[in-house]
Formats: sequence, C-alpha cells, structure tokens
Amino acid sequence: MTIRSLAVLTSGGDAPGMNAAVRAVVRRGLDLGIETFGIEGGYLGLMNGNIRRLGRREVGGILGRGGTVLGTARAPEFKTEAGQNRAIHQMAKHGVEGLVVIGGNGSQSGAQALIKRGFPVVGIASTIDNDLVGFDITIGVDTALNTIVQAIDRIRDTATSHNRAFVVEVMGRDCGYLGLVAGIASGAELAIVPEVPVTIEEVVEVVRNAYAQGKPHCIIVLSEGLEWTPQYLCDRIGADASGFEIRPIVLGHIQRGGSPTVFDRIMATRLGAAAVEALVAGKTGVVVGIANGHVAEVPTATAIAGGNKVDPELYRLAGVLAR
Ligand code: ADP
Ligand code: F6P
Repeated sequence: MTIRSLAVLTSGGDAPGMNAAVRAVVRRGLDLGIETFGIEGGYLGLMNGNIRRLGRREVGGILGRGGTVLGTARAPEFKTEAGQNRAIHQMAKHGVEGLVVIGGNGSQSGAQALIKRGFPVVGIASTIDNDLVGFDITIGVDTALNTIVQAIDRIRDTATSHNRAFVVEVMGRDCGYLGLVAGIASGAELAIVPEVPVTIEEVVEVVRNAYAQGKPHCIIVLSEGLEWTPQYLCDRIGADASGFEIRPIVLGHIQRGGSPTVFDRIMATRLGAAAVEALVAGKTGVVVGIANGHVAEVPTATAIAGGNKVDPELYRLAGVLAR
C-alpha cells in the first residue's frame, strides 16, 4: 500500500542545500497527491510533536538559503527506545505515514532505528562531512569546499606576504574527505587526514622542504578528528626550526554556512524528488544520494556502516603536486 502523507525533517549538522531538498520533497510530494508535513528541530522536534503541514508557498524562497529553515538538533534522547516510541506516536497522531530524513551518518542511524520498528523512512544524504558509504558526494560538501578553499586562498595571500606557514584546521568529523580535497584544490603543501597517519617528523620535513625550496609560504591543512590541534602542531613545527614563522587557524562554523552552490542546489533538488518517489513506490530503508554521477539508492544499513572515503590515489597525487 502506498503512503498518503509524508513528513520531512533535517537533522544533525546543517548543510547548505538542505533547504533545496526540503522544497523538492514538498513540491514533488504535492505533485504526486501526497499530503506533506515539515518537522521542526530534527528528531527533538519529532519527539515533541513539532509537526506542521507544508504547502507549496511555505517552501518558496528557500532554494538558495544556507542552513535549514526547518531547524535541526542533536537529540540524544532519540537514541532510546522511549524516544523512538514517542516519535512514532507523534507521527501516528498527525497522520504521517512516511518520513524523509535529510542528514548525515548520525541522522541516518536514527532513521535506521525507525525502519527497524517498521516505520517507512527514506534518507537523503546530506552532510558537509561526506561520511556516508556508497555515494560520491553528499549535499553541502561542494559549498563547504568552496568556502574552505576561498578562506585558504586568503590565508595564502597573507602567508606569502609575510613568509609564513599556516596550519588550517577544517571540519569533517572522523572523515578526511574535506581536508584532502580542500588541500588539493588550494595547493596546500600537506593535508593531514585521519585515514592516513603521518608523524610529526614527516610534517616538519614538509615545512622545512617548502622553506628550503624557496617557497614564500607553506599551508598545512589539518582535518579535525585527529588528536593534534593546530596550536600543538605549530608549537612542534616551530620548535623544530622550520624556517617559517608559523600560525594556527581553526576555520570553524563558517565552513557550514552560506548559500549553496549550483551543484548543491541541483543535487539537493534531484534527491528531494527521488526520496519522495522512492517512498511512494513503497520503498523504505534506503538513502538516496549521488553515486557515479547518478541518483542512487543505498540500503540505510550500508550507508551508515562507515568506511574510508579518502582515495589513496588522490592522496598520493596531492603529495606529488605539493612538492
Ligand atoms: P549527522 O547526521 O550530521 O551525522 P549526528 O551524529 O549529530 O548528525 O546525529 C543526529 C541525530 O541523529 C542525533 O542527535 C540523534 O538524535 C540521532 N542519532 C544518531 N545516532 C543514532 C543512533 N545510533 N540511533 C538513533 N538515533 C541516532
Ligand atoms: O557533522 C557536521 C559537523 O560540522 C562536523 O564537521 C563537526 O565535527 C560537527 O558538525 C560540529 O558540530 P557542532 O556544530 O555541534 O559543533
């Protein structure tokens, strides 16, 4: 039996493009004759019954906005059976028969909990971390990378002027994808990512080499998710007399904000429509995302299984080109 109504929520860290996905879910749902609801504040809002009907006009003007107009939350209580029961009760009360979860690894783990209880859920791969298995890239990554690279370009301007080295920490949680790709796209001398261990001595060698070659700057991209902080690394590199004056920077939450790129808008639009179509076709327990350039469905259990998103070939190439 197909569903007659669905709700959509955004969860976990917000990602640019989430709004475009919400808009597509609502408008494609209405197009298919489905009643559409929005849940405010992720799983927290779901447990508290913050559910309201969304029409075409309610999702107007949001396509190009960063963040999520539905709001998001980290909701530890949803990991409990009691929390999940409350969520299912709220959906039954509002007549919601299917759910679209827009989010990353944690959010799709939450979806999996509902799926296991027999509630139909389709996920949309959306997180700047790119930490879901089976997809090329998730919603928000392209925008975040553009923001990071723009920031590093600016840092390089001042680094070159002063003959300095910089250690720039980027987000990504346990996943080094953002760090590696930002490093390559900004021409950094080194990207340190959780998937590829390096020693302090190797890092110092990179900085020393850059100085010895007469480079006027040296940029080290440091993924969060490692034990080292930028300050710690600067202290260690500085103490080993690399030649450069050295400064630490944590880019922080500016990486997550901002208007989505065209790439993210289009991808989010396609995935929003695809998620609704999957639910209406009676599917559940899948996440929709982009794989090999096409819209694809991956079982939720697979998507959340974790795994290495750092391409060893790309990592090697980064090392070759940075010399
Ligand atoms: P992201 O989706 O960005 O990875 P989080 O890891 O913060 O975000 O997860 C978002 C929310 O998903 C959590 O606050 C929690 O409510 C829910 N969640 C995460 N992991 C689980 C789990 N194993 N079981 C049930 N719910 C979960
Ligand atoms: O999951 C997205 C993300 O931005 C991660 O890259 C980062 O580790 C985390 O969220 C930061 O979370 P918060 O906004 O709660 O500090």
